[in-house]
Amino acid sequence: MYILGISCYYHDASAALLKDGMVVAAAEEERFTRKKHDTSFPINAITYCLKSQCITMGQIDYVGFYEKPFLKFERLLGQHVQMFPWSLKTFVSAMPSWIHEKLRIRKSIKKLGYQGEVYFIEHHLAHAAASFLVSPFKKAAILTADGVGEWSTTTWGIGNENEIQLLGEIRFPHSLGLLYSTITAYLGFSVNNSEYKVMGLAPYGDMHKKTNLYYEKLKQVIDIKEDGSYTLDLKYFKYHYANRMPSRAMEKLLDGPTRKREGEKKGSGKESELTQRHKDIAAALQLILEEAMTAMLKDLYKKTQCKNIVLGGGVALNSVYNGKVLGKTLFKRMWIHPNPSDGGSSIGVASYIYHTILDKKREKRHQLSHAYLGPAFSTEEIQQFLDARGIKYSKFKNRQDLIASTAKMIFENKVVGWFQGKMEWGPRALGSRSILANPCNPRAKALLNEKVKHREHFRPFAPAVCADDALKYFDCDKPLPEITDFMLMVYPIKKEWHKTIPSVTHVDGSGRLQTISRKQNPLYYDVIKAFGKLSKAPILINTSFNIRGEPIVCTPADAYTCMMGTGIDCLVMDTFLIQRSDNEQDQWNSEQYAND
Ligand SMILES: [Fe+2]
Repeated sequence: MYILGISCYYHDASAALLKDGMVVAAAEEERFTRKKHDTSFPINAITYCLKSQCITMGQIDYVGFYEKPFLKFERLLGQHVQMFPWSLKTFVSAMPSWIHEKLRIRKSIKKLGYQGEVYFIEHHLAHAAASFLVSPFKKAAILTADGVGEWSTTTWGIGNENEIQLLGEIRFPHSLGLLYSTITAYLGFSVNNSEYKVMGLAPYGDMHKKTNLYYEKLKQVIDIKEDGSYTLDLKYFKYHYANRMPSRAMEKLLDGPTRKREGEKKGSGKESELTQRHKDIAAALQLILEEAMTAMLKDLYKKTQCKNIVLGGGVALNSVYNGKVLGKTLFKRMWIHPNPSDGGSSIGVASYIYHTILDKKREKRHQLSHAYLGPAFSTEEIQQFLDARGIKYSKFKNRQDLIASTAKMIFENKVVGWFQGKMEWGPRALGSRSILANPCNPRAKALLNEKVKHREHFRPFAPAVCADDALKYFDCDKPLPEITDFMLMVYPIKKEWHKTIPSVTHVDGSGRLQTISRKQNPLYYDVIKAFGKLSKAPILINTSFNIRGEPIVCTPADAYTCMMGTGIDCLVMDTFLIQRSDNEQDQWNSEQYAND
């Protein structure tokens, strides 16, 4: 039985395919269209899912959509009527896409040749299902938090076997996710894209509640009750009726106007300055988010008395807080889906159809134990690509040569593009489409930031470590065989290792960890171990294989283009080694690439 899940039209459109309840393919549309956070109907992702199983839409048994568009539309209409005439401009600009696309999702699906039932489930139920139904837990408490779905912005409940029961919710316009996005916009970063940059900026600010002036100020914006429920003071916001998030009152409260948006000064090649005030505001926001989440989780533990917790929704991408959950609450084990935001909801709705709508008594649930669900390319396909483009390459003698040579190149401070097997699912590169570098090199962070990633100097790079080595280097929750971190937890790096791995040690001594087991990805695991033999620290810098503003690479052509447009020294693609110096005489014009 095949079930197709779809999420689209808000951000990170995606498709996922279940075969007899097991996820067999999943991908985000942006990887194919090369448009970051692409929202459009995921025709390319659907095509990939079908192709991966050699089936057509006619062979799909059920299709599910990750929210209820009419319910969402009803909320938007009510909201615009309530805020008329201030909302008129936003209403007029939003309507065409609702009329022509968002309310016609069933038609778009039927057009592909599918004749069966299309199920629509609530947005937060899809988040809850993506968090719980593919988790390793038979029973778990569930907390979902994002910007907004139809009406819900936060929900909590419990998952038991193959059933999910949502026990409560907080409704729009009160939203922890939208508070985070509002301050993201205020700090000059793009909403639904750069919230993680604000999280990365926070440790540069004052992380002490007693001394951070903006913590007290932001406490006026949100009222967090003892049971964790919260309300926002809406005079500080405009998102409920305008295409702008912070109000003048917020700007007054935070002692200055909204910082110019990133990219506004693109022509000058400079970002507008980030002052200490901006950093303190980012820190205050992180403190507030942690306070609200902890209050909710503590209350949820009281209600459920369950030892396991799963988190979902965009707020679950706050890896700094994720790393603190078990320390701040009584929960003992946590799992977070590798794609907890809207993109991951296509797996949520498909799993919900299989387990709950179709057959509540069905016993077996399949854990999502890795994130390698996207397209792969065979050795023959890759060789054909290289030959057709006249790209110079050499071939590794065997697997051992590939592992040893890659580890040696990284140890010699080369920046290595790593393209192997099936593309990852979710926002993080996890060892299939990664850029790997030496964390022991103190210059690696600056080098990667300036020459490859072209991103802000304050953003840290993430360490990848084999699960069996994690506790030696990190003060992390004990990795369990069935639970590894999909780079969604930040943990303190043990002090004695700060100087050994300076390029993955953030300003506050933390690292955003990927733990990897050999079972998940043996080749990647073996490279990390081989590097450890050379450096005495089996840890690699793992950053996504892309340049700033672009999605992670998907195809061999994307990878080669990215390599030649950046300072990546060599590309290890399947069994081939492509070295930059060999190909410079290809007359590659990186300037032309940058202008494309
Ligand atoms: Fe969401």
